[in-house]
Amino acid sequence: PLVTTKEMFQKAYDGQYAVGAFNVNNMEIIQGIVDAAKEENAPLILQVSAGARKYAKHVYLVKLVEAALEDTGLPIALHLDHGEDFEVCKSCIDGGFSSVMIDGSKHPFEENIAVTKKVVEYAHARGVVVEAELGRLAGVEDAVKVNAKDATYTDPDQAVEFVERTGVDSLAIAIGTSHGAYKFKGEPSLDFARLEKISKMLPNFPLVLHGASTVLPEFVAKCNEYGGEIPGAQGVPEDMLLRAGKLGVCKINIDTDLRLAMTASIREHFAKHPGDFDPRQYLKPAREAIKSMVKHKVKNVLNCSGR
Ligand code: G3H
Ligand code: 13P
Ligand code: ZN
Ligand code: NA
Repeated sequence: PLVTTKEMFQKAYDGQYAVGAFNVNNMEIIQGIVDAAKEENAPLILQVSAGARKYAKHVYLVKLVEAALEDTGLPIALHLDHGEDFEVCKSCIDGGFSSVMIDGSKHPFEENIAVTKKVVEYAHARGVVVEAELGRLAGVEDAVKVNAKDATYTDPDQAVEFVERTGVDSLAIAIGTSHGAYKFKGEPSLDFARLEKISKMLPNFPLVLHGASTVLPEFVAKCNEYGGEIPGAQGVPEDMLLRAGKLGVCKINIDTDLRLAMTASIREHFAKHPGDFDPRQYLKPAREAIKSMVKHKVKNVLNCSGR
């Protein structure tokens, strides 16, 4: 059945692990992810961005997720990723999602609170849960000085005030992760002191980590070997994500690793089978690559196998 993240997060918080939130855009991606979750008996969040809704259309994604629920019998949450205003959140709440993110992080503090509160009121009245974001992820590098960090990373005192005043169900925080395949220029580092502080000040409250792909070197190498050009790609090390999962982080967002797994597989296929042109010939191994990557995540990074 379609579920909210309420119970998943409570169990993840208590068990000191994290639930994977995977971005979905088409049937093969959805099937690869849910087949992995089924085999690992893992809790699962499927999330859809505004770009995904534009690419595949809302109704196709909802129906595909309904098919996944029927096919697997798993409890799955369907979540809007980075909703930028009240309207898109309302449209997903009305359109069958069980969870939405209102990303007001680009707004000043008071405006972020106001828009988040409005979404929370609408969502909660309809049994839907809400994630918000405080702090900025984009453009953050490991060379950022302390002053700059204070301006962009999540402020612990503000986080407490934000959660109290909005009644939000979970909060995405900025501690040094970023979206995409190029997360760090030198040594990867996250601000764990800040995470510990936020976590201590918000006991029993689920935190969310965006930009949490590990950018698996095997996929980067395979892409580059078979005609791709993604030099210097680097993600968040696995041990850092495991550590975050023990510090109140209950949801870990993964999109880039799905993209890389799929693309590496398809590049390899075309290089080795230049005569193939039936999409099933290359989408089947691509779906398989996603499945085995997600199984690895569930076991070794999220620690949510059998939960
Ligand atoms: O946070 C961004 C996600 O990776 C979704 O990306 O907006 O290109 O679908 P997208
Ligand atoms: P990655 O780019 O690290 O996969 O992050 C995805 C994300 O945060 C989606 O909201
Ligand atoms: Zn994100
Ligand atoms: Na956790």
